[in-house]
Amino acid sequence: MKTYYHTTPIYYVNDVPHVGHAYCTVALDALTRARRLLGGRVYFLTGTDEHGQNIERIAREKGISPQELTDRVAAVFRDLWDRLDVAYDGFIRTTDERHKRGVLRLWSRLHEATAPGGQSAVYRGKYTGWYCPRCEAFYDEEDLNEPGHLCPDHLLPCEWTEEENFFFRLSAYGEWLEKAIRDQEIRIEPEGRRNEVLSVIRQGLQDVSVSRARVKWGIPVPEEPAHTFYVWMDALTNYITALGYAEHADDYRVFWESADERLHLVGKEIIRFHCLLWPAMLKAVGEPVPSRVFAHGHLTKGGRKLSKSTGNVIDPQELSARLGPDAFRYFFLREGSFAQDWDFTDEAYVKRYNSDLANDLGNLVSRTLTMVGRYCGGLVPARGTPEVAIASGPVFDRYQALDFGGALGAVWEVVGRLNQHIVVNAPWELAKAPAQRARLDALLYALLEGVRLVATLVWPVMPRAARRIFGMLGLERDPGPGDLEWGVLAPGAPLGRVEPLFPRVEAPARGPGEGPAQEPKAKPTRKEAAVSEEKETPAPPPAAPVPAPEAPAPGGDRIDIAEFGRLELRAARVTAAEAVPGSKKLLKLQVDLGSEARQVVAGIAGAYAPEALLGKTVIIVANLKPAKLMGVESNGMVLAGSIDGRPVLCTFEGDVPPGTKVK
Ligand code: MSP
Repeated sequence: MKTYYHTTPIYYVNDVPHVGHAYCTVALDALTRARRLLGGRVYFLTGTDEHGQNIERIAREKGISPQELTDRVAAVFRDLWDRLDVAYDGFIRTTDERHKRGVLRLWSRLHEATAPGGQSAVYRGKYTGWYCPRCEAFYDEEDLNEPGHLCPDHLLPCEWTEEENFFFRLSAYGEWLEKAIRDQEIRIEPEGRRNEVLSVIRQGLQDVSVSRARVKWGIPVPEEPAHTFYVWMDALTNYITALGYAEHADDYRVFWESADERLHLVGKEIIRFHCLLWPAMLKAVGEPVPSRVFAHGHLTKGGRKLSKSTGNVIDPQELSARLGPDAFRYFFLREGSFAQDWDFTDEAYVKRYNSDLANDLGNLVSRTLTMVGRYCGGLVPARGTPEVAIASGPVFDRYQALDFGGALGAVWEVVGRLNQHIVVNAPWELAKAPAQRARLDALLYALLEGVRLVATLVWPVMPRAARRIFGMLGLERDPGPGDLEWGVLAPGAPLGRVEPLFPRVEAPARGPGEGPAQEPKAKPTRKEAAVSEEKETPAPPPAAPVPAPEAPAPGGDRIDIAEFGRLELRAARVTAAEAVPGSKKLLKLQVDLGSEARQVVAGIAGAYAPEALLGKTVIIVANLKPAKLMGVESNGMVLAGSIDGRPVLCTFEGDVPPGTKVK
């Protein structure tokens, strides 16, 4: 059994997660699941990067402590990973005690280390840079506003300043790094990135200052307690501190020291830190270095970089709530090339969903299962042989190469061939002739097994849909390593209930930049609604029929859990309240949602005085489109019970921090 260690970058907590974070994390989750299906033993790590002057400044602006800020935002990241079905094994925060212990351990070992050439790996030196005395922070030249070297925050001139810091002698490791990269001891992918790193080495590496005299929010350097470690030195170390490096824990031994692959998946912009500073520090202290660093491309929108300041953003919460987490995961891993930059469009999102998921996959599953319901009484028919070749090897090769488009493309070829096989063999015709019973059974068995194998192959990317398909096949479990074989379904076993997998949606009619998309209306696909559209005259269903996909669910117009899941209910603390002028019913509330402040208008003035609401934690529907009430914008809706029209606010039994999700 192979052992793998998979990591994402640890994300900054200066803002809530954006779609780039979700892209990288979902991709690594898919690779992890693929390797688990192959029987591999994988440890999947993600986390948050919480130190540094940026966090210090943002917390100050919000009037909260850096710890409070990082606690809140780290919780938002975890919540997003839960919603996107990211099954990580470890979540490391650089404010964790185990992380601090690990950084100090690495530091003490670096102190004792000798660099190639015989000098000490760490030394004291002068650090110079642009310093803003109001922020008490150094800025990189590219962050300053020009002309005048102005602080991006205060727009006042920064001073060219120097301070005494500790340096890591990276310059001594160039030759070793070049060889390690050329010999594939450190495999850098894709090739273009490898060449980029090699060319940086050839230009000559500079030593790196690894402590800061003026940054307070960080891990103190023992020799100079007023200094803290440089954020990148602190952050990179997460990859080993999370496994218990400080204690030389079992996880560290298994997943770092002896793993078959130590993989860092990162965005292309941080490849140099991961391929130069990080392996050199590890080499200095005699620890194994990462064996593979893969740099993925960036998402853009309208051809432009995603950036909050220009309003060019894609909200992962909104997108995944709109079509479900599986559709989100599928789209991002299928649409573009993972190694390259590519442009997101809303139109492509809906188009992929309808054509690949609702039509191709949804259709295959519903047709196959409905036919087995009709012609075999909802029981798995007698075993047949594979009639459509399904080779899982190439799919897993593509997954392992992080070529998700290639892997999914190969699966969709199979889906296409299975759909074609139905049309060509016309089971509805076979069903009319009793002499064809054995042929019909063999065909339907081959189709059921095809569906099962397809579900197994897409499980890394769409775990929820795969699980649902397994449920429809009567297998109440997730796909696992044994499912890559032919013939798992036992003849005579009952199938589960057939339900539509991906109801078709209408494309939102809007141009780029016109604000949030309309909620698409689900309607059943024509194909999904019928067993087959080919002039079929279905035989009367045998006993124990499986309901056709269009049959109403028991319970009339009840909704399912996925529909409920589209509501984003959150705890919100009221920070200000006042009457809406000219209205007897409406109050204008300012609420704290943890990671943001909102204005919400509520029709509760008849029952609540504004001042009685201050400090109360209520529940709001947070993903409601903004609306104007009496000319006042409301960005969310407060929940309340209604007793003959008198509102009684929904609150909590215990203390609940603002922003907490209500499920
Ligand atoms: N905290 C550092 C990483 C330290 S790792 C020891 C950091 N954090 S970050 O919050 O900026 O996240 C960077 C990562 O988010 C990128 O490397 C990439 O994986 C992902 N993305 C951020 N923006 C992106 C796009 N526009 N497109 C795709 N992914 C990008 O850097």
